[in-house]
Amino acid sequence: MVQNVAPTMADLETEDFHLLSGVEQGMRFSEWVAREKLPDFSRLTAEDVDYRLDRCADRGLLERKTIQYEGYKLTFEGYDALALHTFVERDTIGGFGAPLGVGKESDVYEVQSYKPLALKYHREGYTNFREVMREREYTADREHVSWQYTARKAAEREFDALETVYPQVSVPQPIDHNRHAIVMEKIDGVELSKAKLEPAQVVPVLELILDEMQTAYAEGYVHADMSEYNVFVNSEGIVIFDWPQAVPTDHANADELLERDVENVVGYFERKYPGQVADTPDSGAIAAELADGEFETLASVGDA
Ligand SMILES: Nc1ncnc2c1ncn2[C@@H]1O[C@H](COP(=O)(O)OP(=O)(O)O)[C@@H](O)[C@H]1O
Ligand SMILES: [Mg+2]
Repeated sequence: MVQNVAPTMADLETEDFHLLSGVEQGMRFSEWVAREKLPDFSRLTAEDVDYRLDRCADRGLLERKTIQYEGYKLTFEGYDALALHTFVERDTIGGFGAPLGVGKESDVYEVQSYKPLALKYHREGYTNFREVMREREYTADREHVSWQYTARKAAEREFDALETVYPQVSVPQPIDHNRHAIVMEKIDGVELSKAKLEPAQVVPVLELILDEMQTAYAEGYVHADMSEYNVFVNSEGIVIFDWPQAVPTDHANADELLERDVENVVGYFERKYPGQVADTPDSGAIAAELADGEFETLASVGDA
């Protein structure tokens, strides 16, 4: 698991970040950045580089290798530190708080700003990356930054989707993004998977979710990872989060993915609240209405 770098941040000096971003620069060209190249990349003296390499390696922000040549690369913690530093410099955030959710694909923390916000570090490619590296120890240099690249792309995609659909769709307000991290509104509520809906709420909540999916489609996106784990329920309604897999509606598979999303959500309600979503229309019919902007209620699906 990736460690929380927030407590380390207070120890770090401006020049440490220069060194880390020097290593980041160097990693565009090779997996391991040779020590001799770091004064150039980081604009520090060779002496300062030596001093700061030890400081950053001791704190787990850099990994060192000594076989063939002495080289360094960023760890995920080092990459986190760079993103966090950028958010602080931009005044996006002023303090770091408790974990909100630690997943396979992300680590989400509360952060302080003018109000509490959520910071999501993307981890896509991390577990894969380690497997790939284990299998192919001498991997071609081209693939060396795969985890960084994959996680950064995922963050960009999520931020773009949020920016497009907010505020028409009920999603966390996007605030800022940098590297593999995004800052967004913090949502209070319970995950749909943990919510215990009253019988009278079951169909209205399901319809609310489908209605948001319809609006998202009209705004140009299919979520493509809809499940009971990516929806919050609270007193104001529902919020759909976790958008890195979202695809534009002009994507070749968009309608197929929309139907799969509908199936996931409707299937969950049918399993969790048996008999309460009576005569559920076919997912394909619901998806078709969502895409056409004609969905109103489950009962009216299929009425022309
Ligand atoms: N904006 C947010 N506000 C509050 N908690 C959040 C927010 N975004 C994510 N979380 C929490 O973090 C967890 C993981 O976030 P999610 O976006 O679903 O990423 P993953 O790809 O790891 O599933 C969520 O299940 C949720 O509990
Ligand atoms: Mg999720």
